[in-house]
Amino acid sequence: MKPDKPGRRPSKKQNRRESAPKPDSEDQPKPRRRGDSKAGRRKKRTHDPVPESKKTEVRFEKDEPVRLNKYIAAAGVCSRREADQLISGGKVSVDGELVTEMGFKVKPRQKVVVDGHEVQPEEFVYILLNKPKNTITTTSDEKDRTTVIDVIENATGKRVYPVGRLDRNTTGLLLLTNDGELAHRLMHPSYKIRKVYQVETDQILTDDQLTQLRNGVTLEDGLARAYKVDRHQTLANVVRMSIIEGRNHQVKRMISAIGAEVMSLKRVIYAGLTIGDLRNGKWRNLTRNEVFELRQLTKLLDKKSLKL
Ligand code: URA
Repeated sequence: MKPDKPGRRPSKKQNRRESAPKPDSEDQPKPRRRGDSKAGRRKKRTHDPVPESKKTEVRFEKDEPVRLNKYIAAAGVCSRREADQLISGGKVSVDGELVTEMGFKVKPRQKVVVDGHEVQPEEFVYILLNKPKNTITTTSDEKDRTTVIDVIENATGKRVYPVGRLDRNTTGLLLLTNDGELAHRLMHPSYKIRKVYQVETDQILTDDQLTQLRNGVTLEDGLARAYKVDRHQTLANVVRMSIIEGRNHQVKRMISAIGAEVMSLKRVIYAGLTIGDLRNGKWRNLTRNEVFELRQLTKLLDKKSLKL
């Protein structure tokens, strides 16, 4: 399966206020018109949003040294041009020696430190999947059911892992990566990563039920509250619910605690990333800026901390 078009860029601040979904936003069922056959609909171009030439990879070919700015950019910290600023600004050392010289080359096994943090170029991949129903959020399944890895068909050539999990029948935004440190931080409660779900319920929730969700409901593993709940603008039995924790089946259990049942569940925002116009079952690579923003959110060495 090919990657789909890039979505909208996430906002600068993950914890911004989300407005209620607009009737024609990406997570709405699109009205179908007569004669609007599949073949008739315009096919979207699918491409990787980051041109191959812009992807920074560092390989020490036959132990040849590489330019220091390229090395730093490949560690995901910033662009090469910004790495030059760091170098000239005296923020970079190699094997304990401050380097301010433009064009300095790093040899294999040398230790590069930027602003007190050791950096290493890695060939990380970050995939944003619009998970379809009936897929399991694991890398393999002993019952041979379709997994999210099957959906992306190992298109990156690298082993990637889902960041957190969505239930089999939950659709929407799932991040997959081989960047263990970032994944770990995104899943760690201390970083308070916001997830927003569009929840279709078996009944129209009352104002009182929405208040219960906001105030917190008691689950078997403790109190769980929705950071924000908004009614859908047009669909009476749909709400948008933001949560910070990621406990198992949390949304379904919270809805059950207020006496209702989830009919369908779709994650529309994760850590400031939005699905945009990524279609069900499609995936795309994150853009560089999206990766930078995730690093910022999880307090990994990033452009902001480096004042770039
Ligand atoms: N909450 C649920 O109940 N299920 C999911 O898949 C995600 C959040």
